Amino acid sequence: MDGSILGVNPDAQPNNLESFWMPFTWNRQFKKDPLLLTSAKDMHYTSVDGRSILDGTAGLWCCNAGHRRERIVEAVQQAVEHLDFAPTFQLGHPLPFELASRVLGMVPGDFDHMFFCNSGSEAVDSALKIALAYHRVRGDAARTRLIGRERGYHGTGFGGISVGGIVKNRMFFGPLINGVDHLPHTHDLAHNAYTRGQPHWGAHFADELERIAALHDPSTIAAVIVEPLAGSTGVLVPPKGYLKRLREICDKHGFLLIFDEVITGFGRLGAGFATEYFDVQPDIITCAKGLTNGVIPMGGVITRKGIYDAFTAWADETGSTIELFHGYTYSGHPVAAAAGLATMEVYKEERLFERANDLAPYWEDAVHSLKDTRHVIDLRNLGLIAGIELEPRPGKPTERAYEAFRRCYDKGVLIRVTGDIIALSPPLIIDKPQIDQIFETIRDVLNELD
Ligand SMILES: Cc1ncc(COP(=O)(O)O)c(C=O)c1O
Repeated sequence: MDGSILGVNPDAQPNNLESFWMPFTWNRQFKKDPLLLTSAKDMHYTSVDGRSILDGTAGLWCCNAGHRRERIVEAVQQAVEHLDFAPTFQLGHPLPFELASRVLGMVPGDFDHMFFCNSGSEAVDSALKIALAYHRVRGDAARTRLIGRERGYHGTGFGGISVGGIVKNRMFFGPLINGVDHLPHTHDLAHNAYTRGQPHWGAHFADELERIAALHDPSTIAAVIVEPLAGSTGVLVPPKGYLKRLREICDKHGFLLIFDEVITGFGRLGAGFATEYFDVQPDIITCAKGLTNGVIPMGGVITRKGIYDAFTAWADETGSTIELFHGYTYSGHPVAAAAGLATMEVYKEERLFERANDLAPYWEDAVHSLKDTRHVIDLRNLGLIAGIELEPRPGKPTERAYEAFRRCYDKGVLIRVTGDIIALSPPLIIDKPQIDQIFETIRDVLNELD
């Protein structure tokens, strides 16, 4: 073995960077001055120039147990040697059945089924389709409208960008799916800047759902989808009482409530899921990312008791053998399911959700220690998540944050920026000195920047 993978040296810069059209990337800049990661272990990446980079973002909010964890690596190796692929259409294999049971065991409340897909975007599309079809199979076919939220990120499928509210992710792609309306986002610096944890002000934003319901007639609305904490748009923490109010309005009018927990699932807030953390039960939960610790792509949709039953009742009545006309070739893929099972074991054995919860107050203090740092106009936190909002450069939005990202990387810390906001979400195995390192590095970089 020369260490190469099929003749490609995984530790060296490729000769040709042009062919790969990179997602959500400033491709021209990257290809002039690439940032290449070659390996990872626990809290650190190694860069192509051999430097150790502390991971402040769990990859892309996904490696909650840290990188290249032995138990997960071994499970994937064993799985691929045992069964590379098996269909789950009219056939099955054991692993996804077990994984679904284990995940359901982690969610409080009366959730009783889990559907598998390959990503957060597919989880969102699947959840929206299940919600629409649920009303239809119950004979309530007029409920076809979907309500999302401004600044929401629900992935990049047509369903997700339709209910999502990030303008650039929507504006190039035509009329999207119709019958969608949006709640206002809850971000308000004038009232809530520098709040520790959940803001006290802003629960009334949920009442906009009543206005939207009245506008369209509530009997036409199928579902409301929100991220319990909006992550990708730059960490918007829900005001106290907001999610409960949404739940009440959904109950009043018979709307399904979907929590998109692709980021908040699997311990990010110091509880298994945000539904537990906020003590608000949705009807459907989407998840991905931390489901397999990011090792193999996988997403899931978790449904509350009664939803699956409505499909089986309809199938019995109509003589349909199939209950849900939806699925993916790789739904419940054996290698992904093995990664998921091993990931659940690591979370449990190392009590990582409790660990995140224990570290949260230290994390909060570290976040808010940046209060008087140059360019900072807001600090937000919950669980092991932080948002650091920067004053944009006049006429040059995003430039300052992008430079902060590059400079932190040069100083050995990986942060993520979205617009002019730094978003942090480290693996849950982070320790206190590493938390200090992240915030000291950011402080130094912001003080140096114009
Ligand atoms: C809340 C939420 N939903 C959906 C997605 C999409 O997930 P994926 O990129 O795996 O399709 C993301 C990704 O960040 C997300 O944060």
